[in-house]
Amino acid sequence: MSRKKSETDVEELPQGIEIKLQEETETQETAGSEPVEQTVSEAPGLKTNASFEDLAGVGPATAEKLRASGYNTIESIATASIGELVEAVEVSDNKAKEMIISAKELLNMSFETADRLLEKRKCVGHISTGSKKLDVLLGGGLETQSIVEFFGEFGSGKTQVGLQLCVNVQVPVEKGGLGGKAVFIDTENTFRPQRIQQMAEAVGLDPAEVLKNIFVARAYNSDDQMLMAEKAEDLIKNDGVKVLVIDSMMALFRSEYGGRGQLAERQQKLNRHLSALHKIADLNNILIYITNQVQSDPAMFFGDPTKPIGGHILGHQSTFRVYLRKSKGGKRIGRLVDSPYLPEGEAVFMVSEKGVTD
Ligand SMILES: Nc1ncnc2c1ncn2[C@@H]1O[C@H](COP(=O)(O)OP(=O)(O)OP(=O)(O)O)[C@@H](O)[C@H]1O
Ligand SMILES: [Mg+2]
Repeated sequence: MSRKKSETDVEELPQGIEIKLQEETETQETAGSEPVEQTVSEAPGLKTNASFEDLAGVGPATAEKLRASGYNTIESIATASIGELVEAVEVSDNKAKEMIISAKELLNMSFETADRLLEKRKCVGHISTGSKKLDVLLGGGLETQSIVEFFGEFGSGKTQVGLQLCVNVQVPVEKGGLGGKAVFIDTENTFRPQRIQQMAEAVGLDPAEVLKNIFVARAYNSDDQMLMAEKAEDLIKNDGVKVLVIDSMMALFRSEYGGRGQLAERQQKLNRHLSALHKIADLNNILIYITNQVQSDPAMFFGDPTKPIGGHILGHQSTFRVYLRKSKGGKRIGRLVDSPYLPEGEAVFMVSEKGVTD
């Protein structure tokens, strides 16, 4: 596969599918970029001291099976689908339903009044893309509790934005950042530590510290990608991670499920992956940033003859979708094409040695 690389893109990532846990670091004290107004808060509380045995219809044997199948919190039961539980612990549909309902009750997770939803929205934090104009277009930066998809042709800046988010998320709270860490799931071997160093220096953070707060994992196939996202949840819960980047979301799915006949299977699997990501974003108050390439759409006669890969499943599951195009002299144009409450619009930004800027 021929891919465009910048000259600084020289170092290969160490191979290995393990998420690389790096040393703990102290809080950043270096100055960040100019502060952007932020709302920062703890993840919405979904905690209970209850154990699986407190769930309706769950005895020690079922509890054990649940743990063995990877369920380790009441929340993981509350957000599971009936089918998943039936498969994992070999119970009837009704019993699975009962377990889910009682888990939801323990966590007060059924209907919420709109004012409580508003409270939850107040926990939403924003991560700057590095470009003020792009931030404004996106309502003040990229939001936690959401999945944001950037799609566009090669070299349009999707990976650069992902790397920049891994840096900017670390800007301390006093400087308008979230003081959080990042997880980067790399499916195309595009993560470059040197690029992170450049970007960190440009925003006034200590590059060595910034690198320590980014957990990188290489995914080699779509199963691996899904597994990594699941494994990342532990880091997210325990290590103050505020952004999860998946670069690229569709590349592996696309290469593995190439044939027409496999499309339905691919979309089903993709749907499962995206639902899991939604839960992670929502329950842990983090941003999930995914990248996606475009393919040509032969049915399109007017306008831009390209469309994102992944079809309507990806489209419906992303909270925000931004279409990136290359323009002259390092300029990029980002177009917000889908948002639950913001108007469509465009912003021009730059990708330079300093990273993503205006
Ligand atoms: N150190 C740098 N200095 C200046 N510009 C850079 C630097 N690194 C990358 N770029 C710019 O970013 C572009 C690459 O962007 P990016 O890797 O984000 O593309 P992409 O949209 O992820 O593409 P693909 O679909 O191939 O993954 C380069 O072509 C170059 O214009
Ligand atoms: Mg890329």
